[in-house]
Amino acid sequence: MLSVSGLSKTFPSVRALDGVEFTARAGEVHALVGENGAGKSTLIKLLTGVHRPDPGGTLTYDGREVSFATPLDAQQAGISTIYQEVNLVPLMSVARNLFLGREPRGRLGLIDFRRMHREAERALAELGVRVDVRRPLRELGVGAQQMVALARAVAVDARVVLMDEPTSSLEPREVATLFGVIRMLRERGIAVIYVSHRMDELYAICDTVTVLRDGKVVHTGPLAGLDRLRLVSLMLGRDMDTVQDEGLTKFTGEHDAGREPVLRAEELTARHRLSEVSLDIRPGEVLGLGGLLGSGRSETAKALAGALPVDSGRVTVAGTRVRGGSTPAAIRAGISLLPEDRKAEGIVPGLSVRENIALAALPGLSRFGLVDEARIDRIVDTFVKRLRIKASSAHQKVGELSGGNQQKVLLARWLAMNPKVLLLDEPTRGIDVGAKAEVQKLIDELAADGLGVLLISSDMEELIEGSDRVVVLKDGAVVEELTGDQVTEDRLMRAIAAPAGESRD
Ligand SMILES: Nc1ncnc2c1ncn2[C@@H]1O[C@H](COP(=O)(O)OP(=O)(O)OP(=O)(O)O)[C@@H](O)[C@H]1O
Ligand SMILES: [Mg+2]
Repeated sequence: MLSVSGLSKTFPSVRALDGVEFTARAGEVHALVGENGAGKSTLIKLLTGVHRPDPGGTLTYDGREVSFATPLDAQQAGISTIYQEVNLVPLMSVARNLFLGREPRGRLGLIDFRRMHREAERALAELGVRVDVRRPLRELGVGAQQMVALARAVAVDARVVLMDEPTSSLEPREVATLFGVIRMLRERGIAVIYVSHRMDELYAICDTVTVLRDGKVVHTGPLAGLDRLRLVSLMLGRDMDTVQDEGLTKFTGEHDAGREPVLRAEELTARHRLSEVSLDIRPGEVLGLGGLLGSGRSETAKALAGALPVDSGRVTVAGTRVRGGSTPAAIRAGISLLPEDRKAEGIVPGLSVRENIALAALPGLSRFGLVDEARIDRIVDTFVKRLRIKASSAHQKVGELSGGNQQKVLLARWLAMNPKVLLLDEPTRGIDVGAKAEVQKLIDELAADGLGVLLISSDMEELIEGSDRVVVLKDGAVVEELTGDQVTEDRLMRAIAAPAGESRD
């Protein structure tokens, strides 16, 4: 259906793709995998007319050689895309976003709003999304916005659907819906190209896999029968024994926690969101926060970091009360939060890697108004190496980095602040398997250095391996605390799934 040969793409500072051969067949779900910065998104953007390839390669679609000058060209030819960054128009209504460029029109050529709204409602209902389609898109959560992008992609008469990390902000129920849609597309003979870092998803839904490494295809073939370890070793370019020895999670788990908590939260309450949440974090310990989406995990982290105003309750750091509802006050007290929605709350695409990392730590790195440039260089250098941030240099604009590498830059920013307590909301989301292990090792080391860490992760294994203790939330309240040997998948699942009312006490 769609194939490329000898395709390359050179940006001013980097060769993102190098002689790529790739074929997506009708009725096949084709996984595209590789480390952060391997070239996955670039390939998708070449296939859909966002970027122009270097001269020399060919793109064949439905038996004919083609070239798409704009995304609209590709779309009109039947190639539909869900990009890694949601690319809808936030201020327009949900319905307009769904029908952008193909609005139903009446006899006089005017948009038939009633029909558009009705059809939008139906298309979304099929995906289990019930929203007022007249409201601006930006009022929806990130997950729901992603579902609108999905509805848009399948509503057009597509023959190829490309999905670049479509599940990174979906909850499990939505992932199930997405998989249902993908199966339907496959049955209709549509070619689906699927990018994800989540191994479970790949094996659940994909037929074929192509592995990219540093812009080159290093493997392509059926996914069934391809051992996970082998797949990871292909992605990382290390042999299987090394991958096996190093393991896929890097947590050691055991820490030597101090006795006195470094952070203490008492009965934090915020209307409709948190109800009397109390917890302690001790220096040298990783405290996990478990619970379903919407259980109040992110809200708790935000309340601790002063980013969510509370109606009552208090937070103390090393015995001193922290003024509530003020991010600067929390930062001064030594609390750092890596937020979940990193696109909205953090990255400055036009600034360099160096500037983005130094941004928050800057006040602490200046004396008498003079910035200690050498120290910044040292810090930036350390984190670029530690987190294996793939950039042409520390002066490259963050907006030019791959999605996963942008996330690593943000993580580095909060680590560079030398906090007493580090709150990590989904620290490894969107990060490839190799760097994930690196981030986990880092969390361990930070705890070993005496930092108190709060870890939120939807990845069960990560939460269990990484945490010394886990506090489970449900409907904004603490329902269970698991310590030591109790931190097992079984106990955790039961605590999370327990019906409301079965809370302790
Ligand atoms: N607009 C751009 N300008 C300069 N370099 C770019 C641009 N877009 C991508 N690159 C570079 O091309 C390479 C491949 O990036 P790409 O976004 O395709 O990676 P990816 O495989 O999608 O990674 P991730 O898993 O992190 O999303 C990276 O080195 C990136 O920095
Ligand atoms: Mg990408």
